[in-house]
Amino acid sequence: MDCSHIQLCADKSKIDLFQLRHLFNLTAFWAQERQIEDLQIAIANSEPVISAWDGQRLIGFARATSDGVYRATIWDVIVHGDYQGAGLGRKLVQTVISHPHLCHVERIYLMTTSQQKFYSRIGFEENQTTTMILYNSYGATPELVVEPHQVEMHKEANTVAV
Ligand SMILES: CC(C)(COP(=O)(O)OP(=O)(O)OC[C@H]1O[C@@H](n2cnc3c(N)ncnc32)[C@H](O)[C@@H]1OP(=O)(O)O)[C@@H](O)C(=O)NCCC(=O)NCCS
Repeated sequence: MDCSHIQLCADKSKIDLFQLRHLFNLTAFWAQERQIEDLQIAIANSEPVISAWDGQRLIGFARATSDGVYRATIWDVIVHGDYQGAGLGRKLVQTVISHPHLCHVERIYLMTTSQQKFYSRIGFEENQTTTMILYNSYGATPELVVEPHQVEMHKEANTVAV
């Protein structure tokens, strides 16, 4: 497919959350039936958020989270099935990486179940270091939960007492 008319957009306020949820349901096995309110939170806390548009139709998406200097992680890279194989996935990832918020970051991570070949075409390398994960169910592990009222800021000393 000729995708020369597809526009990429870095303005996250333009994203139609209902179209985004639909696109996730169609193309992303890890992101089925996401709640609109949760998508809104995820987008507000991500930078950059890049979307791909065929006119008014949302057909691609990618986002990242980062501290802006040391580490970043890319999330939720998707291209609608009708538009795959035309270079849009690569363009989305490259646009995320070259965004001012990410372009000076030392290391960019991502997690993928089966798209290693796609990412290696863009320059990512598999690494064998151990990744750990906490399936964080708030409140399920009470000993790990620190309620805000338990954290006392000592302004003068700039320290936190728990
Ligand atoms: C993965 C995905 C984003 C790729 O998007 P795309 O627009 O089809 O990919 P591109 O056309 O930009 O491909 C870029 C390169 O990767 C290669 N590539 C893409 N998908 C590939 C795959 N599954 N296996 C091997 N190579 C692949 C392309 O052949 C192309 O190679 P080139 O450098 O020789 O041109 C898209 O297939 C998708 O949305 N899949 C479902 C959701 C998903 O799995 N997302 C990734 C989550 S981690």
